[in-house]
Amino acid sequence: MKKRLQLFLWAVVLLIGGWSGLAMAVEEVRTLRGAVPLDGADQAPEASKWMPDSHGLPRNYLQQPPLVPHQIDGYKIDLRQNKCLTCHSWAKAKETRATKISLTHFRNRFGAELSDVSPQRYFCTQCHVPQKDAKPLVDNTFKPVDSL
Ligand code: HEC
Ligand code: HEC
Repeated sequence: MKKRLQLFLWAVVLLIGGWSGLAMAVEEVRTLRGAVPLDGADQAPEASKWMPDSHGLPRNYLQQPPLVPHQIDGYKIDLRQNKCLTCHSWAKAKETRATKISLTHFRNRFGAELSDVSPQRYFCTQCHVPQKDAKPLVDNTFKPVDSL
């Protein structure tokens, strides 16, 4: 009896495994590596350059974090230092002529106003990204409801 139960359980496991394998094959996973096998050597992607520094880039939708209009190579953000804030903090902005970080960046997730930048907003490049003139990797048909 015990053996039959064991056999039955194995059959169930194999069936489920088989089905999920089939489902994956049907979906056809498309990765950025394309058809290159995992252990094969892919061609290095073409190196593209950062866009030259400019004065602010247009936003595509209302809530968009403004794009970074300058290069940020070597600008470190870690526990001890935040290079962005050395120009963008309220204390430094006047002298560096950088845009002050928005007031929303002092608000924590409970809505409390802090006297320094909120931990939620500390890692600037989570939201603000520099630009390259590169082809999009995937198509994007996003259209803002309220265009600017
Ligand atoms: C050496 C000073 C300096 C540093 C460091 C710096 N910035 Fe800037 N940033 C500027 C200046 C100046 C401008 C304004 C450019 C202009 O409009 O003329 C600017 C503009 C921007 C803007 C556009 C603001 C807008 O309203 O369009 C964003 C976003 C930004 N920086 C993000 C960052 C981030 C993120 C970092 C760190 C990775 C960073 N910056 C580091 C000086 C700096
Ligand atoms: C969680 C996403 C997020 C993070 C992290 C973040 N920002 Fe922003 N930032 C935004 C959004 C969204 C806006 C536009 C709306 C607003 O002003 O809050 C903005 C606006 C700004 C502006 C323009 C302010 C203005 O008056 O036009 C600057 C400059 C800026 N951020 C710099 C920074 C810097 C520097 C950091 C890191 C210390 C940072 N941000 C971290 C989302 C973020």
